[in-house]
Amino acid sequence: MITTGINNTFFIHTFGCQMNQADSGIITALLQHEGYSLADSEDEAGIILLNTCAVRENAVDRIEHYLQHLQGLKKRNKGLIVGVSGCVPQYQRQEMFSISPAIDFLAGPDTYRSLPLLIQQVRAGQRPSSLEFNSAETYEGIDPVRQGAISAFVPVMRGCNNMCAFCVVPFTRGRERSHPFSSVISEVRQLVSSGYREITLLGQNVNSYHDPEEGLDFAALLDAASREAPLARIRFTTSHPKDISEALVRTIADRPNICNHIHLPVQSGSSRMLALMNRGHTIDEYREKTALIREVIPGVVLTTDIIAGFCGEQEKDHQATLELLSEIRFDLAYMFFYSERPGTLAARTLEDDVPEAVKKRRLQEIIDLQNSISEVLYQGAVGTVVEVLAESESKRSSQQLMGRTDTNRVVVFDRAHYQAGDLVKVLITSATSATLIGRPEYSVDYES
Ligand code: SAH
Ligand code: SF4
Ligand code: F3S
Repeated sequence: MITTGINNTFFIHTFGCQMNQADSGIITALLQHEGYSLADSEDEAGIILLNTCAVRENAVDRIEHYLQHLQGLKKRNKGLIVGVSGCVPQYQRQEMFSISPAIDFLAGPDTYRSLPLLIQQVRAGQRPSSLEFNSAETYEGIDPVRQGAISAFVPVMRGCNNMCAFCVVPFTRGRERSHPFSSVISEVRQLVSSGYREITLLGQNVNSYHDPEEGLDFAALLDAASREAPLARIRFTTSHPKDISEALVRTIADRPNICNHIHLPVQSGSSRMLALMNRGHTIDEYREKTALIREVIPGVVLTTDIIAGFCGEQEKDHQATLELLSEIRFDLAYMFFYSERPGTLAARTLEDDVPEAVKKRRLQEIIDLQNSISEVLYQGAVGTVVEVLAESESKRSSQQLMGRTDTNRVVVFDRAHYQAGDLVKVLITSATSATLIGRPEYSVDYES
């Protein structure tokens, strides 16, 4: 039930990981089902929702900044409702309200079904919050509203049962729970029949997927998804190194439409740091896993996450990270300096003792080294022909399309007669450290 005569359109700003992006699609579906509709822009919306990320300190700072902007917007736009959802309110709970007077309501990752009620309560003069954990909630039965028509996320699990010392996710998303195998596969089936060409199975640690009905594991799920969608590309993220199994690696090798890319966050090159981080594996075990992956899946591309300056990190640990980067040669890395998050294992038991200037210097060394490695790897692709799934027009020119290789490299290429959704053989003519640039292999013939 919604009230008429007031602005019932909404706009969502999504921060954070792909899980949060997928959740915004669920929120959109839930609100539309109750009669709310998507606004074309923030300025036109009657309800603005910030779907937030708490993983690093700067992620929270960004929201505070944004709320200041919304405070100004509220002065001009009387009746505007601002809600904060996702990981930040779940993490900071009621104290969140004191961050900004602009906030009208709070909702956590397990309570999106109560959003229509929260909006009604705001209109009745309350400042409500709904931050309960519900370890049974997987939002089954809700058909998310997706952005784009080429590539889709399919969450296969929510929450995380690991306790990596630096990480807030177990506190923001609660206990791990897997979606039923049959519902994941039927979602894949539906996406294929709607014309999607790429499907990414999502979870904070997909390798601990456990089908609640028949106990099937992630390798079985990935295999079944790839068979259900033989003409689509299948991706997945994220894999925890301690849990990635040989069965999974062999499934990727065996199934032609499962992409040859594994995001395998290592965080540090030092086993001592990995123990302090409570990651549950050593660097030698990581080396063994990557060696197995590269042996079983020829041409596979590995990417990673790195944290510089975690508690107790010494210069020799940092050097070990640089050495690991040189040894493994990741295609790409997401690199961060450590920021302490209250309540985490590290905040409770370890001292955040690496000075900020040292953290930043080490991070810069890591970034410089990784960029030089990426550049060499990308330059190595110049002159080759790669198959690209075109996703959209390139940001810079309507005469170019942007897409990705099976190995998840970004490619910008001359449009010729192609459009989003096409699989295009692209001749790579140049490269930066993050993008391959080229033209369709046959475009010259086509144009002449
Ligand atoms: N589930 C994923 C990680 C999700 S968080 C996994 O286990 O790999 C994404 C990345 O953010 C992490 O891999 C880590 O590199 C970084 N990160 C998490 N907490 C952080 C913190 N407190 N400070 C800096 N970086 C952090
Ligand atoms: Fe965080 Fe570790 Fe879980 Fe990843 S696996 S979400 S880093 S606790
Ligand atoms: Fe951030 Fe929450 Fe994802 S903390 S990384 S949005 S699970």
